[in-house]
Amino acid sequence: MCGIIGYVGHRPSVPLLIESLRRLEYRGYDSAGLAFCLNNKLQVIKSEGKLSNLENKLNQSEFFLATSGIGHTRWATHGLPIEKNAHPHLSIDGRFALVHNGIIENYGELKEKLEKKGITFSSETDTEVLVQLIAHYVRKGDSILQAISKSLKEIEGSYAFALIECSQPDKMWVGRHSSPLILGLGQGENFVASDIPAFLPYTKEVIFLENEEIAEITTTSYQVYDLDLTPLNKKVTTIKWDIQAAQKGGFKHFMLKEIFDQPQVIRDCLTGRINKSKKSVILPELENFPIPHKIHIIACGTSFHAGLWGKYLLEELAQIPVEVDIASEFRYRKVPLSPQDLVMVISQSGETADTLAALRLAKEKKLKVLGLCNVVGSSIARESDITLYTQAGPEISVASTKAMLSQMLTLLLLTLFWGNKKQLLTSTFLEKAITVLSNLPEILEEQLPVLKNSAEELAQKYAWARSFFYLGRGLGYPLALEGALKLKEISYIHAEGYAAGEMKHGPIALIDPDFPTFALALEDELLSKVVSNLKEVQARGGKIIALTTPEVKVEATDLWTVPFLEAPFNSFLALPALQLFAYEMAVYLGKDVDQPRNLAKSVTVE
Ligand code: F6R
Repeated sequence: MCGIIGYVGHRPSVPLLIESLRRLEYRGYDSAGLAFCLNNKLQVIKSEGKLSNLENKLNQSEFFLATSGIGHTRWATHGLPIEKNAHPHLSIDGRFALVHNGIIENYGELKEKLEKKGITFSSETDTEVLVQLIAHYVRKGDSILQAISKSLKEIEGSYAFALIECSQPDKMWVGRHSSPLILGLGQGENFVASDIPAFLPYTKEVIFLENEEIAEITTTSYQVYDLDLTPLNKKVTTIKWDIQAAQKGGFKHFMLKEIFDQPQVIRDCLTGRINKSKKSVILPELENFPIPHKIHIIACGTSFHAGLWGKYLLEELAQIPVEVDIASEFRYRKVPLSPQDLVMVISQSGETADTLAALRLAKEKKLKVLGLCNVVGSSIARESDITLYTQAGPEISVASTKAMLSQMLTLLLLTLFWGNKKQLLTSTFLEKAITVLSNLPEILEEQLPVLKNSAEELAQKYAWARSFFYLGRGLGYPLALEGALKLKEISYIHAEGYAAGEMKHGPIALIDPDFPTFALALEDELLSKVVSNLKEVQARGGKIIALTTPEVKVEATDLWTVPFLEAPFNSFLALPALQLFAYEMAVYLGKDVDQPRNLAKSVTVE
């Protein structure tokens, strides 16, 4: 994910900025850049790829005279990961340089407006609009702060930015909305960064900026304002983490951090894709793409489970027949494919060998391929005819968590998009869906700590188990498969996911008091059937944890209640609950949560 660092002080800023960006490398990036003032002129140096490429361009000794500047690592979300799109971006007059995280949704409109005023753009990024807009207002007579305030009021979307001006090397201006930004306060020097590790060796005194706050920072002072430029008093917090803990955002493991990232993942994945006022889904990538008659979803592991979850939705709400295949099976199965079929490959990494081979097979057969991918510029993203990025940000923990949630959300958006195009969805349904989706980040944010506590209690109670069943029906079935996969891969407890209705066809023979069951008993049209299946388990002495809502009447050894949300939205609470249960179990059993044995993050061999 993109990283920002800004510095004003007394140290040579170029090596400091590079080192700070290096401490953000764990987040992943594909290009990087710096800007700093020298002799009343801005120097902007950028490069594709690793920071060492950027460093190679920074070997002029005069660069080491700079004592301020801004730096950025970019993890491409929309435009290609090329030098032109790397940050910082300059205003047309060369006076301002800006780095930005987030997405400016109305940048097209703003760009058109600025172009009419004769401003030309040198990149295709949304970021450049912001720096040009601020510079435009300054040229018209506004102070820099006024120009920032005016510009931010015109912007829709999310941002964290740092701005410098060529004639004031001891100052920078920063602001945020929906993307994190933190001030670091030093002695005769001040910092700003998207993540605390960037400046942690220099200071532990920080100020967390809130939404729609901006700040003017000098070497010896700072002042935070709201968007109307009313000065604000901010609390200074002392950070107690070391660098490693800070990289994990203070969480004990990357997996836990990534589970807790999920509300933000929902925000990022929805940005620019739902129109809250028109209550519609916007997927510009697919606007001119024919609605498929049939889809073959192909993926591996957790991504396969997301695909299976999507099948239920696409078939029910968009009336598109869907087959879901494990990539390693699909590539060798002689599947009859019709040229009108769409192949959809789902992959977090975009490099999974079997999924990539299936994609190539489909292309050989002249089928169109839609990629649902997290890593921009990955092989699957490049080779698909169309790619929808799932916007989960870098996933570091080997066990996939937030990537699956983002894949499910993208599949839901696709379903709403096609279902609406086919006029299968009522406006009341769409309106409700958009409203629930918009509220989902806050709901999940509130629920995650509660879910974690319950997961911890239950994990301690069931840590003796050597085997687990996970049962669900409908949308609960792929979730059951995923719950079982998470448990086995990080806690090494044998776990099997089953469609609850399938139990009596064999697996129920395993049930006894030592073989517990984790049941997905959330409210949907199949709930009564799940409840009956659980009675069969209980009758054989099986212990049950039932993930359910307060109104449901279900008998279980342990009821794990979550607030009511209608299907399919309740899956976005169930998935984190399953992830947290596996996580707490692994932690309690002392396992290496982020690096489970025998597993690799990206499976690039067959
Ligand atoms: C499980 C897990 C794997 C991946 C699978 C596919 O936690 O991470 O099962 O989901 O290897 O990887 P991608 O999605 O990168 O193709």
